[in-house]
Amino acid sequence: MSIAQNTETIAKLRCIGCGATPDSAGQDFRCAACGDLLEFFFPGWNLDSPASGQHSIASGAPGVPARLNGRDARSSTDPAALKSLWLSRRTSRDALDQSGVWRFRELLPHIPPEHAITLREGNTPLYHLPRCARAAGVENLHAKHQGMNPTASFKDTGMTFAASSAHQQEFRWVACASTGNTSASMAAYAARGNMHSLVLIPDGKISWGKLSQSLDYGALTCQLRTDFDGCVRILNELVRQKPVYLLNSVNPYRIEGQKTAAIELMEQLTWEPPDHIIVPGGNLGNSSAIGKALVEMRELKLISRLPKLSIIQAQGANPFYRSVRDFGGKKLEPMTADTQATAIRIGNPASWKKALRVLQVTGGEVEQVTEVEIAAAKAEIGADGIGCEPASAVTLAGLKKLRRSGFVKPGESVVLILTGHLLKDPDFTIKFHRGNLFAGMPDEPESAQAKYLQRAPIVLDADLGAVIAALDAAERNS
Ligand code: F0G
Repeated sequence: MSIAQNTETIAKLRCIGCGATPDSAGQDFRCAACGDLLEFFFPGWNLDSPASGQHSIASGAPGVPARLNGRDARSSTDPAALKSLWLSRRTSRDALDQSGVWRFRELLPHIPPEHAITLREGNTPLYHLPRCARAAGVENLHAKHQGMNPTASFKDTGMTFAASSAHQQEFRWVACASTGNTSASMAAYAARGNMHSLVLIPDGKISWGKLSQSLDYGALTCQLRTDFDGCVRILNELVRQKPVYLLNSVNPYRIEGQKTAAIELMEQLTWEPPDHIIVPGGNLGNSSAIGKALVEMRELKLISRLPKLSIIQAQGANPFYRSVRDFGGKKLEPMTADTQATAIRIGNPASWKKALRVLQVTGGEVEQVTEVEIAAAKAEIGADGIGCEPASAVTLAGLKKLRRSGFVKPGESVVLILTGHLLKDPDFTIKFHRGNLFAGMPDEPESAQAKYLQRAPIVLDADLGAVIAALDAAERNS
């Protein structure tokens, strides 16, 4: 079965390996000629568009000149008009305008609105992180918290778009392999779109929070006795045999939706790019999406320069780090991954070539961080009143290393992309604060460095004096 491409849009598919431009993708979203990944490009964008004001743009929104819906892309890429159109939608009552993804639909392939499945995703806050900035040795540090999405991870921005594409193509079943967040997100969007969802997750290696989400949203949830990479292998076989729509990030619609995090970020920064953006690297779809958005925004003159996009991996799940550092990005050797940041426990990342291109074009860096560095950084982000799940905290841990190496300078502005909410993985947090996250592990000696960040709960008798004594002791130590 082949997946027809939307013909109304000017978006086209292209293979990142051999450059073929197929009219449709197979169900594994790989190039039929060479097996590499596909991506969307927009041949209709008028990249040499002259100064603003000449184009006819209409949105139905008050105060916005005329027409713009992705079909007339040649006349729709005026940067000032796009910015004002997107801003005007923030006061709209329309469901699509209220979504932080569909609000930017001019930069996405066209999907008819009647197929859009939205939970009002996106619209995530950009927070200043003063304590983390001091800890990292930079003056200007912000976090864009993608964990503030409807299912509490960044996956929702890609999922709204790719699930809508499944709906448009009338699939009954959607499926993914996941370390937990993709599956939670997919299950929610499938339920909203009246589709069935099949989740393949590694048994015992995803957090309870994430597992509980896919159960509640009604997915057929299969815990396979393997790791994430083993789940991906089975799913790839499955979609060749069954009419099931693949919703992993090899699906280029996922990447398109996830681009909007970067567009929204630039809008929040009044289109003044930071010097650095730092993202965690797992399957490498997110870094690919953010990088694609940055390049496209610069081509469209929405921004004037590219931030450096750096990718951080856990040391125990670092195939991309090793690919870049050991082989200059020429090959990637799959590995058996191991980290307590289970979201990024991935040994054979699908989108590594796309991510490599992003590093090269933006001049970003790749880093790896230890388990203790991840746990400490997570507690520091928590102490700024923000919090995140472990995989997100690699960004702060990585920033510290990039500062030490001199890649990030003290006066440069930095944005961390926090990918998941603190409550996704409370087990990790509780074990850390109780001091037993690393018990019996090789990291135990190193973990002493992070002790000062631990805030274990204190068990007391129900006695006022005991509570006052605890309060006084805390005040003396503060
Ligand atoms: N952070 C979190 C919280 C994640 O869940 C993931 C990936 C990543 C970072 C890495 O992003 O894969 O685009 O490089 N989680 C996937 C999942 C693999 O199945 O939920 P990536």
